[in-house]
Amino acid sequence: MGLGTTAAVALAGLAGHVVEVQAQLAASVPGFTLVGLPDTALHESRERVRAAVLSTGIPWPNRKITVNLSPASLRKAGSSFDLAVAVAVLAGSRVVPAAGLERVVHLGELGLDGRLQPVRGVLPAVAAAVAAGYRDVVVPAGDAAEARLVPGVRVQGAASLAEVVLLHGGELEHVPDVEAVRPVRQPVARRVAGDLADVVGQAQARMALEVAAAGGHHLLLVGPPGAGKTMLAARLPGILPDLTAAEAVEVTSVHSVAGTFDPGDGLVTRPPFEDPHHTATPAAIVGGGSQVARPGAVSRAHRGVLMLDEAPEFPSRVLETLRQPLEAGELVLHRSGGAARYPARFQLVLTANPCPCGMASLNKGFDCSCTPTAKRRYFGRLSGPLLDRVDLQVEVAPVTRADRLSGTSGEGSARVAARVAAARGAARERLSGTGWTTNAEVPGSWLRERLGPERRVLGQVEQMIDRGTLTLRGADRVLRVAWTLADLGGRTVPDSTDVAAAVALRTRGNHG
Ligand SMILES: Nc1ncnc2c1ncn2[C@@H]1O[C@H](COP(=O)(O)OP(=O)(O)O)[C@@H](O)[C@H]1O
Ligand SMILES: [Mg+2]
Ligand SMILES: [Zn+2]
Repeated sequence: MGLGTTAAVALAGLAGHVVEVQAQLAASVPGFTLVGLPDTALHESRERVRAAVLSTGIPWPNRKITVNLSPASLRKAGSSFDLAVAVAVLAGSRVVPAAGLERVVHLGELGLDGRLQPVRGVLPAVAAAVAAGYRDVVVPAGDAAEARLVPGVRVQGAASLAEVVLLHGGELEHVPDVEAVRPVRQPVARRVAGDLADVVGQAQARMALEVAAAGGHHLLLVGPPGAGKTMLAARLPGILPDLTAAEAVEVTSVHSVAGTFDPGDGLVTRPPFEDPHHTATPAAIVGGGSQVARPGAVSRAHRGVLMLDEAPEFPSRVLETLRQPLEAGELVLHRSGGAARYPARFQLVLTANPCPCGMASLNKGFDCSCTPTAKRRYFGRLSGPLLDRVDLQVEVAPVTRADRLSGTSGEGSARVAARVAAARGAARERLSGTGWTTNAEVPGSWLRERLGPERRVLGQVEQMIDRGTLTLRGADRVLRVAWTLADLGGRTVPDSTDVAAAVALRTRGNHG
């Protein structure tokens, strides 16, 4: 009996597990069976493997072939097992020398003509293989650059099954000359969204943006059409710090599985930015797919910014789906191919008109033609549980005439980013050992305790609570923002000016 063994990787979300792929070739009634809980894609894999072997000019072994993928308990989905199955069969029939192949991880989908097609998720798959002690991987040529981003791995890229056979010391009469297939990738999410220097005036909104970046606070910008809300919100990623090395690997892995990542650019090191349109389906936003669940916008925004522009236009069922990632920082998607877990720890930026007609404003509501009911319903879409998590809720007035005429643009993003980085460093140091890294994550009770004798700076807040103009939840949000203002100002504890400034930043009226 011929035996051939090699390795592949099963991915569930970003978690990869090495799978042993073993082919047994017995002198019995010819057949070809795959075992080990394979899904539909694996049954199709059988057809592709046989066709690819024949197209490579290798006779299909006239044996009873059983390929076992183990552990059987692991759910295996997708087409990336083709290459390992083919190599195991060819090792079992001695077309390629079998020795040592069990220590080589093979990833790739086979075309009927023997071409190796790129697959998604190569980065997390190779990282899992390396973590499990494997050093050698063979991947489709188009995926080689991505696989090489993992430190400590030897990568061989191949354009066809024929190349893989030769690579392992097998012999072929004809080596077909095929061109490497380039991976199909969706447009990469990262875009240069412009610099804060483009924004004229808007001191208050710029301040809100800087505080949001420094404390990791979710942000709501409310204002009439043309006030510059979209322009401001899109500039948040540009003032956030670079990702840490570990974050970069995680973020890049998400984009590898999503197919929205260009390995030519190396690891993703800047916070991603996602701005799904309000007509996007819930699946596009949280993720989905039939057999394999792909990450949606909330996961592609992991460690970056998720912007919902004109947020009240999004269907409530879509807004509802944000609650799980906002609470847990991840999403669990259940599919026939098993549960997939994707990280989704993003900073949320919402923009909204003050009312359906857009003309209402805190001070001058007289141009607004909306009924109070229509206004309430419009904002009601942004439900309490969602807005409860948005520490910064500010009104953006159109740029003033004076600012417009003076044309003075403000500070550029790089200078603001430097202050943000310093403030984040101060917060991280204070919070070290707590598991939190930004003020936005910390419960109000902890921050209040931490004030110690400085609690008196909360006098203004206590009064507002007594008067009923601030809820306890609202007070927590003010406190979190006050700590961020202290971090930005280089103070170890917020003073009463920080608290007053935090109260003043809540320009979106009395919304708890
Ligand atoms: N403060 C500003 N500085 C420079 N340009 C501005 C400013 N506010 C608005 N604009 C201009 O107006 C356009 C509309 O702004 P936008 O961000 O789309 O407004 P909104 O989202 O509030 O409707 C922008 O593309 C920009 O050219
Ligand atoms: Mg807009
Ligand atoms: Zn209105």
